[in-house]
Amino acid sequence: ATDLTGRHLLRELDLTPDEFGGLLDLAAQLKAARREGTEERRLTGRRIALIFEKSSTRTRCAFEVAAFDQGAHTTYLDPSGSHIGYKESPKDTGRVLGRMFDAIQYRGSAQRTVEELAEHAGVPVYNGLTDDWHPTQMLADTLTMVEHGGGRPLAELAFAYLGDARNNMGNSYLVTGALLGMDVRIVAPRGLWPAEPVRAEAAALAARTGARITLTEDVEEGVRGADFVATDVWVSLGEPKEVWDERIALLRPYAVTTEVLRATGNPSVRFLHCLPAFHDLGTEVGREVHARHGLDSLEVTDEVFESAHSVVFDQAENRMHSIKALLVATLAGA
Ligand code: CP
Ligand code: NVA
Repeated sequence: ATDLTGRHLLRELDLTPDEFGGLLDLAAQLKAARREGTEERRLTGRRIALIFEKSSTRTRCAFEVAAFDQGAHTTYLDPSGSHIGYKESPKDTGRVLGRMFDAIQYRGSAQRTVEELAEHAGVPVYNGLTDDWHPTQMLADTLTMVEHGGGRPLAELAFAYLGDARNNMGNSYLVTGALLGMDVRIVAPRGLWPAEPVRAEAAALAARTGARITLTEDVEEGVRGADFVATDVWVSLGEPKEVWDERIALLRPYAVTTEVLRATGNPSVRFLHCLPAFHDLGTEVGREVHARHGLDSLEVTDEVFESAHSVVFDQAENRMHSIKALLVATLAGA
């Protein structure tokens, strides 16, 4: 059992490898219980505030449904629906919400904001994505790797992350792979590798956990032998539109195509994407990019996204089960 009562999750390294593994075990149990109709409510009457300064589909719904299944109540504060960041500091917001709620989820830009909430709220605070880290996504992604890893432990699995690796997903994948002793490859142009302090922290961790870390610009080298190939959008929430042209120019060789999957040499390689994904450009932003660049897809082709290799909807579902495990472990013990 993983008892994380009262703990925050601001970044992956708030957890030890054992605690991380314990959350994944709990998530798998909760998922099975949900499926079998035997789920027990362990958060009856608890209250959870969800602050979103950036938009969300999965993270918000995962927190709301997880809380609902466990008998807890949520209050959603949308990007324009509270004073935080405009009229009221994170410190004051944390102290106010901490008097009314049993836990707080925060999504926004600055990591410092979620840290300040945690310092002053007096209740568990969860980072639902900042510019630096996306730790609840990592719970879902590693749960998905366990499920699709052919029964092998995470420490025996290799994954390659292609694309913008200087964003939250690049940072989070690097340190999570290092923490869990995995074979992790960051495949991106050097200018979009995680920043030096993140790389140093991952290298120090890897020395303890036995993780193998590769940072490379070479796609073939990076994906060879990988069990999973992952990517993310090339322009993240909060970045200006102007960045698209430069990112597309830099990252086109790192798009996940059928050829990239073939280069793994692994016929049962799986494809991961935290979503949302620009695979068919049938969205408003996608149409703009298509008009400007004449591309049919960006970070992943539609062929890969819709292929049997793709486990992106298992991954999306797992956001809910793993966030539920986080809520149960931090609010009810495990
Ligand atoms: N993957 C993820 O965090 O999705 P949302 O932005 O929809 O929450
Ligand atoms: N890097 C992306 C992840 C979205 C879940 C972003 O920050 O927009």
